[in-house]
Amino acid sequence: MKEMWDERYSKQEFVYGKEPNEFFKLQLDKLPVGSILMPADGEGRNGVYAAQNGWKVTACDLSQEGRSKALQLAAERGVTLEYLVGDFGTLHFPESSFDAAGLIFAHFPAAQKFHLLQQVDHYLKPGGYVIFEAYSKQHIKFQQQNPTAGGPKNVDDLYSTEELMQIFGHYKVHLLEEVEVKQEEGIYHNGLGLVMQFVGSKPV
Ligand SMILES: C[S@@+](CC[C@H](N)C(=O)[O-])C[C@H]1O[C@@H](n2cnc3c(N)ncnc32)[C@H](O)[C@@H]1O
Repeated sequence: MKEMWDERYSKQEFVYGKEPNEFFKLQLDKLPVGSILMPADGEGRNGVYAAQNGWKVTACDLSQEGRSKALQLAAERGVTLEYLVGDFGTLHFPESSFDAAGLIFAHFPAAQKFHLLQQVDHYLKPGGYVIFEAYSKQHIKFQQQNPTAGGPKNVDDLYSTEELMQIFGHYKVHLLEEVEVKQEEGIYHNGLGLVMQFVGSKPV
């Protein structure tokens, strides 16, 4: 898994682009600035956007190459962020310490995903926000029609409303939708895709 991501990110180009995911940007811009955890931040397009807007960013990813690209992008934009390399499940952060968490296409293997999302909940402060966008289980049909639609091919690694509510059902739900999006994110997320979008805040 790590090797696959290192190989993908070892190209000179930013394979998901340098600009933030649109949904992440739209939702982040509505929140008061604070600290944000960015698990699976890849080449850093979203973490760097948050840093540019004054957030104190702690990112992580399996990929060392992802980290190098993220730090390169941060330098280009004149900002800094903390970026740890490792499996999110084995990294440790203080409990209840982040004002927000950004999970953008954080597709974890099925065996890990519930535990990792529970970790996100554990690290958020009461009142803290989750901004989540990732492919829906129904996205498989879009992949069949459009090979550049992106995303894991294993339906168990994709998300559903029920799964999100299993973890974040006790949150205040500000937005929860399964929506068709026209993607233009680098070379791997192109054309129509079906995503789950969720914004929730942890009970105070
Ligand atoms: C589709 S990419 C998304 C990258 C980034 N969030 C973005 O939207 O540009 C998925 C990322 O998840 C990371 N990842 C997968 N499993 C992980 C884990 N257990 N811990 C940390 N990162 C993980 C991969 O290394 C990869 O960078």
